[in-house]
Amino acid sequence: MSDIKQVAVLGGGLMGSGIAQVCAASGYATIVREVSDEICDRSRAAISRSFGKAIEKGKATDADRDAALAHITFTTSLGDLAAADIVIEAVVEDLAIKSQMFTELDALCGPDTIFASNTSSLTIAEIAAATGRADRFVGMHFFNPVPAMKLVEVVRAIKTSEATLDRAVAFVRTLGKEPIRAHDNSGFVVNLLLVPYMIDAIRALESGVASIADIDKGMMLGAGYPMGPFTLLDFVGLDTTYRIAEIMYNEYREQRYAPPPLLRRMVIAGMFGRKSGMGFYDYSQNPPVPNELGV
Ligand code: CAA
Ligand code: NAD
Repeated sequence: MSDIKQVAVLGGGLMGSGIAQVCAASGYATIVREVSDEICDRSRAAISRSFGKAIEKGKATDADRDAALAHITFTTSLGDLAAADIVIEAVVEDLAIKSQMFTELDALCGPDTIFASNTSSLTIAEIAAATGRADRFVGMHFFNPVPAMKLVEVVRAIKTSEATLDRAVAFVRTLGKEPIRAHDNSGFVVNLLLVPYMIDAIRALESGVASIADIDKGMMLGAGYPMGPFTLLDFVGLDTTYRIAEIMYNEYREQRYAPPPLLRRMVIAGMFGRKSGMGFYDYSQNPPVPNELGV
């Protein structure tokens, strides 16, 4: 059982819209805060499309979708989040942006409100330091695509209280997700292992080991992965992966986290993967075709 009734989600991008979908489908009154009305509309449309997929797969009905959408409201004002019992942050992977939003919310929300970050690579301690409630601050790391991925890493930072951790774990279970407890190291459990794997695939491409399509095929058919590493990179977002790799490299000073030059060039060129229609694959084609990247 969870004592949480109202959920606020900061950011309605890839992850924020998935988190909002799952919270609303679990019956929580859910408010999503985005930076513009246009992005709010895009986020609402993404949630509706995702429900469409669940309906196609027989996992949900039209009535489930309508009920969940009725639980979600959108706003551009942080002030509208004041009554939330939990704030789950899923904005761009940038410490300054996350910190500023939490500092503002710290002054707006009540003392019992839990703050949670879905960060991939920052430590929870450094984000929580922007608030006066580090004891009520946890990591809550969902996986992409949120409606389909069962895992949530629940992270106890240096000052997180046991009571807050228990509330967070209980809440995650009510979403039908499976929590694991992870320490507050950059990348927690999954990204500590997954990020070097994705980056190694780019290095393999740079050094001419095989083509994009063959590396993807190799890892799917030879190692049983549901997606090859380039399909996964495009799915996660190359801009986000670049930021994650930079943060993990700065934290550990280990070469295996360093973003490869090709990744940097692609981000500079605006190739963010599926979200921009262009990444290791060209998504204007159906099925998507590997891009010629000059390597
Ligand atoms: N809403 C609700 N449920 C959905 C859904 C949606 N939009 N889309 C899929 N599902 C459900 C399906 O109903 C199915 O449920 P069951 O297993 O109970 O039947 C399940 O999700 C899987 O769906 P399918 O098997 O039909 O889908 P698929 O075969 O096309 O697989 C995939 C899609 C789940 C995305 C699969 O390709 C996959 O697992 N890919 C790898 C994803 C991955 O590695 N994610 C992690 C990224 S890294 C990250 O997130 C961390 C970070 O910080 C960067
Ligand atoms: P995204 O690019 O899809 O969405 C980011 C959102 O942040 C956008 O909707 C944008 O409007 C908002 N934003 C940008 N600048 C802002 C600002 N200055 N103030 C407020 N909001 C701003 O990114 P995403 O993939 O949803 O990632 C969000 C968070 O989730 C990141 O911390 C990321 O590391 C983490 N995460 C991502 C994945 C993934 O696979 N993409 C998986 C797990 C965790």
